[in-house]
Amino acid sequence: MQYAPPSPTMDRERLPVLEQRTSRRKFTRYSLFTLLGLSSLLTAVASVKMLYPTKVVGFGTKVVAGSVADIKSQLDQKKYVINQEGKFMLLPAEAGKAIAVYWKCVHLGCTVPAPSPALDGNIQCPCHGSLYKGNNGDLIHGPATRPLDWMPIAIDAGNVVVDTGKVNTRDSYMADQSTALG
Ligand code: FES
Repeated sequence: MQYAPPSPTMDRERLPVLEQRTSRRKFTRYSLFTLLGLSSLLTAVASVKMLYPTKVVGFGTKVVAGSVADIKSQLDQKKYVINQEGKFMLLPAEAGKAIAVYWKCVHLGCTVPAPSPALDGNIQCPCHGSLYKGNNGDLIHGPATRPLDWMPIAIDAGNVVVDTGKVNTRDSYMADQSTALG
């Protein structure tokens, strides 16, 4: 069988088919790239969503303890304010001032109760008996070796706001740990 070279007429007839094949190939390639791109984008979005902190309230954030007037009144009457959401107690550190203390005992982490009238208004850890001052969380005796940790307070739009994301250790009570209530 002899090979017959394609005539110019045949080439013209085959041209559209070749173009069609090329464009189908291109289409498949672009589709694949698009799918790959979309899949990468979805993976990236899912990863960012997974890593992004969704907890935007409660312990670890700025917690509104109440209005200045309300907190002042409670401190005058009860001598403490407990905040469950932020895991802290507000104590009347000095006249017109309050300190926020983390309610976790610095010995082994038990939750300390409110100041007790039976203990001269001081705070005693139920686990091993560490005793803290009821007005500022300073250490009276161990086994704990330092005062209760404290958190900064800010007054914002008439509210007492405690930054529970900033738990500070200390050696003793200092005036700059408490904040004037208006
Ligand atoms: S955990 Fe509070 S005294 Fe031990």
